[in-house]
Amino acid sequence: MADDLCLLIKDTLIIKAPKKSPLVLRMFVLAFAMVCGIYICSICLKQISTRSNVGFLNVQVINRPCEPPNIEPSEKLYAHFPMPNTFSRDECACNPVRYFAILSTQRSGSGWFETLLNSHMNISSNGEIFSVKVRRSNISTIVETLDKIYNLDWLTSASKNECTGAVGLKWMLNQNHEDIVEYFNTKGVSAIFLFRRNLLRRMISILANSYDQNAKPLNGTHKSHVHSPHEAEILARYKPTINATLLIPDLRKVEEMAAKALEYFKSTRHIILYYEDIIKNRTKLKEVQDFLKVPQMDLKSRQVKIHKGSLSQQVENWDDIEKALMGTPYKSFLHEDYQM
Ligand SMILES: *[C@@H]1O[C@H](CO)[C@@H](O)[C@H](O)[C@H]1NC(C)=O
Ligand SMILES: *[C@@H]1O[C@H](CO)[C@@H](O)[C@H](O)[C@H]1NC(C)=O
Ligand SMILES: *[C@@H]1O[C@H](CO)[C@@H](O)[C@H](O)[C@H]1NC(C)=O
Ligand SMILES: *[C@@H]1O[C@H](CO)[C@@H](O)[C@H](O)[C@H]1NC(C)=O
Ligand SMILES: *[C@@H]1O[C@H](CO)[C@@H](O)[C@H](O)[C@H]1NC(C)=O
Repeated sequence: MADDLCLLIKDTLIIKAPKKSPLVLRMFVLAFAMVCGIYICSICLKQISTRSNVGFLNVQVINRPCEPPNIEPSEKLYAHFPMPNTFSRDECACNPVRYFAILSTQRSGSGWFETLLNSHMNISSNGEIFSVKVRRSNISTIVETLDKIYNLDWLTSASKNECTGAVGLKWMLNQNHEDIVEYFNTKGVSAIFLFRRNLLRRMISILANSYDQNAKPLNGTHKSHVHSPHEAEILARYKPTINATLLIPDLRKVEEMAAKALEYFKSTRHIILYYEDIIKNRTKLKEVQDFLKVPQMDLKSRQVKIHKGSLSQQVENWDDIEKALMGTPYKSFLHEDYQM
């Protein structure tokens, strides 16, 4: 259309040409040709930009974030709709996903707790990912790793399918956590604190586990967790000797670490769990599932507890330990027992 119009006008000008002064006419034709050119160009540009707009709209339609009606405004920060690069979430693309981290200390039952969580069809807890030092070498590697996990692109045996409703990892509180609190608060990650009440039992578990690392009584392999009563019985045969002088300062150090972590993450959405409470009362696990907003299920673990029964049978120098803790705030650790 525009081209035709320009030609038509050009033609009329050319027809009139012989009657005018050639210079003025040439200038006039030149100017007119320029105006035409600009006009045509502008139309072309407009067409190009509308075409790319259409493309942009298509992309938006495909990637439109899901907004299920039943999410309260206060929950918005915590309901995510990740779009993994490695697979498609298909029919569950609009199921919200919660991000979580289990914040715990060594030998506090977090391995067992994770196997319970992973027995849920909608939960994927990826283990102690940051035990690999290079991943926590600086904040950029930490953020890169967390982003990948929470985008469901971290593939481990714990990875579920497109219908994962809660995804997380285990973070040990002796790893430097100063950097991650901001990440948690801005990305809407919920924290699950898992502590052990009886820190004396924890200490025995640490000593026995580090003994096992060297002695390897199970046919030469080191096992932090076992799946049969027979293996548990073999591992429990070892009775550590606890340094009674260092006992109280050591217990105090662990308490302080937990208190500091709670203070540090106090602005993060969190739940506090104790290993002993979960062992005694499995309804605690229902609270955890509610916290993660996944449907309630019976959670199971194949792990078998290594140390059971009375503590006095598990330490070589029980008399020293008893003497050291009598009359201190830790004396209850001597007698608190539970059934598995
Ligand atoms: C962070 O650590 C990684 C791996 O050690 C390294 O490649 C990267 O250069 C570091 N980045 C910064 C900003 O220090
Ligand atoms: C849990 O997983 C099942 C099966 O994979 C799926 O049908 C369901 O929508 C998921 N629920 C949530 C809350 O993600
Ligand atoms: C060690 O290996 C043998 C033979 O494979 C097996 O019978 C035994 O139960 C194993 N012992 C432990 C403690 O796993
Ligand atoms: C306990 O630890 C302290 C400090 O490391 C050490 O001096 C002491 O000899 C240890 N006691 C025993 C019985 O090993
Ligand atoms: C288990 O815990 C729930 C709350 O988490 C409580 O209501 C219930 O009474 C407890 N059951 C036992 C046997 O302690």
